[in-house]
Amino acid sequence: MKTFYVTTPIYYANSSPHLGSLYTTIVADSLRRFKRQLGFETYLLTGTDEHGINIQRIAERAGVTPKEFTDSIVREYKRMFAMFGLDTEHGGYDIFMRTTEPFHYAGVSELWRRVARAQTPAGREAIYKGHYEGWFCASCAAYKTEDEYLKPEREGDAPLCQEHLKPLDRVSEESYFFRLSDYAETLLALYETRPDFIRPEARRNEVVSFVRGGLQDLSVSRQKSSVSWAIPVPDDPSQSIYVWFDALTNYITAIGFGNEERERGVGFEKFWPGLHLVGKDILRFHTVYWPAFLIAAGVELPLGVFAHGMWLDPTGRRMSKTLGNTINLDTLHRYFNNDVVRYFCLREMVFGQDGKFGYEAVVERANSDLASGLGNLSSRTLTMIGRYCDGLVPSGEIAEERRLAAKRAGIDAEAQALASALEHARDSFVQQFADFAFSRALETTWSVIARVDKLISDAKPWELAKDESQREILGAVLYRAAETLRWLAVLLHPVMPEATQSLWRQLGQTTDLTHLDPAQLQWGGLQPETRIGEVQPLFPRLDKAKIMSEIKQATESSGTRATEADAVPGSTFAGEIQPEESPMRGATEADAVPQQQQQGATTATAQGQRLEGLVTQIGIEDFTKVELRVGEVLTAERVPKSDKLLRFTVDLGEAEPRQILAGIAEHYEPEKLVGHKIVVVANLKPRKLRGFESQGMVLAASVSDEGRPVLATFTEDVPNGARLK
Ligand code: MSP
Repeated sequence: MKTFYVTTPIYYANSSPHLGSLYTTIVADSLRRFKRQLGFETYLLTGTDEHGINIQRIAERAGVTPKEFTDSIVREYKRMFAMFGLDTEHGGYDIFMRTTEPFHYAGVSELWRRVARAQTPAGREAIYKGHYEGWFCASCAAYKTEDEYLKPEREGDAPLCQEHLKPLDRVSEESYFFRLSDYAETLLALYETRPDFIRPEARRNEVVSFVRGGLQDLSVSRQKSSVSWAIPVPDDPSQSIYVWFDALTNYITAIGFGNEERERGVGFEKFWPGLHLVGKDILRFHTVYWPAFLIAAGVELPLGVFAHGMWLDPTGRRMSKTLGNTINLDTLHRYFNNDVVRYFCLREMVFGQDGKFGYEAVVERANSDLASGLGNLSSRTLTMIGRYCDGLVPSGEIAEERRLAAKRAGIDAEAQALASALEHARDSFVQQFADFAFSRALETTWSVIARVDKLISDAKPWELAKDESQREILGAVLYRAAETLRWLAVLLHPVMPEATQSLWRQLGQTTDLTHLDPAQLQWGGLQPETRIGEVQPLFPRLDKAKIMSEIKQATESSGTRATEADAVPGSTFAGEIQPEESPMRGATEADAVPQQQQQGATTATAQGQRLEGLVTQIGIEDFTKVELRVGEVLTAERVPKSDKLLRFTVDLGEAEPRQILAGIAEHYEPEKLVGHKIVVVANLKPRKLRGFESQGMVLAASVSDEGRPVLATFTEDVPNGARLK
């Protein structure tokens, strides 16, 4: 049997589950249900990443052992996954992997030994002992080079991590190094020969240019005296294995690499290579370090790595607990059923790009696409079959002599056109889904719903039912709608397993939907005379005003400020220990999470100093409030009746381009700006100018006496959405 192995990242066990962990697990779960229908034997891994100095410190502060601490986080994760129907019991993940499992220790040691025995392509030993001198961010679990940290305000202080704004740890100690610098050519050849290894393409290009820029050797151990909560280096217990070497290896130890028990139970041989789904912020670890380790160890490489974008809040800001704009998973679950959340995740975010997540948007999608769309089609069709056909699926046939009458009633005598449209939609759906284009696949399906909705409103079965001579036509209309619903149940099953099972039962179907390959669908598969099941609404209509006011109230009473972004505070940790930070990281690898602000850290930098004499000095915490991003001008035109204003649509690497107005019409020809990369203040409150909402601001220098604007731009190509810091 063909196999399919898909993994989510293993989530840091340093704080409660977050939207990112729910999201990737939902995507992986849908993908595996899809592959299961296609006849693959599937295996899904999710879990927690439990070692490292960060967790060691949090546990110390809380006065518990690191394992006690991570056990409590794991309980939270398992509770969350069960609540959203993603655990094994609901047909979800096959393993909740923990890096504290003894079998994982065995596998990591085995991989280390293999790498340590290996020679690089240049014929040198892949691991060597050296001395590491530099800076390390405990929260990123990564070493930082000069261009990745902020210089301290006071000489002698530690620099700050650009992402967490926390002081870095000075590391000056013996360490094993992995000779990554010898693998650049091999990696570039890999990206070249397997263009699908990194997806989407924009991410692949980023990695290629990073590797082309040259690779430095990587410190892959720490002294045990500095980091004790880790897997020891084989044969050298004075050293601890670097947490990313440990964490990445989970993907193979979970299925049996380096340990017989798992090999017998699951099967490395059987399931590897697997597909990794990750957020774009951890791309480098998965597409540079991980393949290099595997190449060195002589282990087959993964099938590929797909990097998805980040969920931002409704105003396009990154989510963080400090900003108070995270999504509380308990709240999400309280107000929305699991299939609504799954549908929203897959429909709203174009996989690979950033998307916006807000409770209001979930209500809107739930009402428009699900309650009024799929749900309404299903309930009206089935209710009419109950009422007009005694609950038995009618025949779809129209006798020769009634064809003219059918035409008059506005329906084709043959179901051929609808059947072909369905086949076409099915083929597109399957192809798009397999290609990670989930949002497009769903759009395709909804075009079928619109078509059948129209068929019903045109044919008006409730009118046909009044006239006995129209019975056959009435039957044909209802048959077509019901047969379409049968196809939709099969196609949408991976996305909405609960609702489609219910629809399946309501259509009187008894076969196993979980293993039904869409390729087997044939028009006419719904047998006339089938007794339909009890009609139940698939998606209740949600009361937006009520839900939003309840969420707001809950937010306020919990004492956290509500933001414009309909936000509620981050989920609370079940135990009494409050982890110090949320892993709800920002939109890009480089995003700053101003966590430290609350703790009163010193944050001013060179930027502040350079401004001296011009304006009042600000600290870095003020600067990080301004979100500057790279935007590409997609369209530009003059605003009617205004001499000054240009109206742009600008791609900021988000799900949809933004509309931005700028008062530069006297100095720039709009057509000439299309395709240019500009700088946008991305978190400016939207405001209306001449009837158009401007969703950001364009940056320009103001030169000469009359303040002529000169747009800020770049000297080399930069990805859309990249943050300026
Ligand atoms: N422990 C590492 C992964 C090791 S894998 C061998 C880690 N953990 S994490 O908990 O910080 O992040 C896990 C995943 O959540 C990442 O893929 C990250 O991109 C994702 N997300 C965190 N915040 C997110 C959003 N706001 N939106 C979407 N996904 C985000 O990194």
